[in-house]
Amino acid sequence: MDDETKGVLLSATTKLKVQPGIAGAAARQSRVVHRGSLLGIEHMPASEIASLLALARRMNPAKARPLLRGKKVLLLFYEASTRTRSSFEIAAKSMGAMTTLVLSSGSSIEKGESLLDTGYTLRAVGADVIVVRHPHAGAPLLMAKNLDIPVLNAGDGMHEHPTQALLDAYTILQHKKTLKGLQVAIVGDIYHSRVARSACYLLSKFGAKVTLCGPPELLPEIAAALAPGIQITRSAEDAIRGADVVTPLRVQKERLAGLKISLQDYIGRYQVTMQRLKLAKRDAILMHPGPIIRGLELTSEVADSPQSVIVEEVRNGVPVRMAILARALGKAK
Ligand code: CP
Repeated sequence: MDDETKGVLLSATTKLKVQPGIAGAAARQSRVVHRGSLLGIEHMPASEIASLLALARRMNPAKARPLLRGKKVLLLFYEASTRTRSSFEIAAKSMGAMTTLVLSSGSSIEKGESLLDTGYTLRAVGADVIVVRHPHAGAPLLMAKNLDIPVLNAGDGMHEHPTQALLDAYTILQHKKTLKGLQVAIVGDIYHSRVARSACYLLSKFGAKVTLCGPPELLPEIAAALAPGIQITRSAEDAIRGADVVTPLRVQKERLAGLKISLQDYIGRYQVTMQRLKLAKRDAILMHPGPIIRGLELTSEVADSPQSVIVEEVRNGVPVRMAILARALGKAK
């Protein structure tokens, strides 16, 4: 883990409300993370990633086996989500689980209930697994260390988005024989992107060559130390030239406070246009974790081009999250 990530993780974790609260038996501070938890890609062995992807390939959302019959999947979202939330819910229900959605608005989180007390509450009502998205890095880890059930990270602050990295690897492997040696260009707001971090960890483990591209405000030099095989460039043309995979990332306006970024300058230098995409290999694929902002990080023409696999990525979220849920609950068959 690089120093920057550590800093983000530490500061964010200490900001979380850690209170003794109503914990009871579930809160015996075991500090042992349930082995079904998925908290990040950084420490996940390549062999485990490969077997999870193989399990996802055996999942058929249209004709799913009832592997999770009788199980309760709690979806706890402190931040907005369309893709992750809906695909986890559909994945769980297709395998026979019951799902309950708890959002920060309209729940007792609004009244000041801490993350852990919310976790203990959801455990007390019968949760078998908790899927959590949180604006602070480290929130899923904190829950996992204090609960005796698996916790799945659906995106935590600027830290990781492991399920996105897995579904993106799954999608790439539907188009390319192997990740080894692939040239992947990730262009945009890397600094704020948990998607970029998880992607770098995963692609690096499998020998892909990742080029990160963006202005210094959105891509500090230290990002090259995230994982082996990562390069940095400030030129979108250099990043995209010869690439097998091109991934523009959304400029996260909600996280730009205090940064001097001109969106017009950004568009001029970094927007993925058809002209820039043509610099990639002829059979290159265009990916984006979503949500896309047409006219900002990419043009509509690029988003809808034959090279775009953006919709496939979303679709693949279902079998991949089916596999993640099945593994979490010991049903990885
Ligand atoms: N890619 C992604 O995490 O999308 P959502 O925010 O819509 O879940």
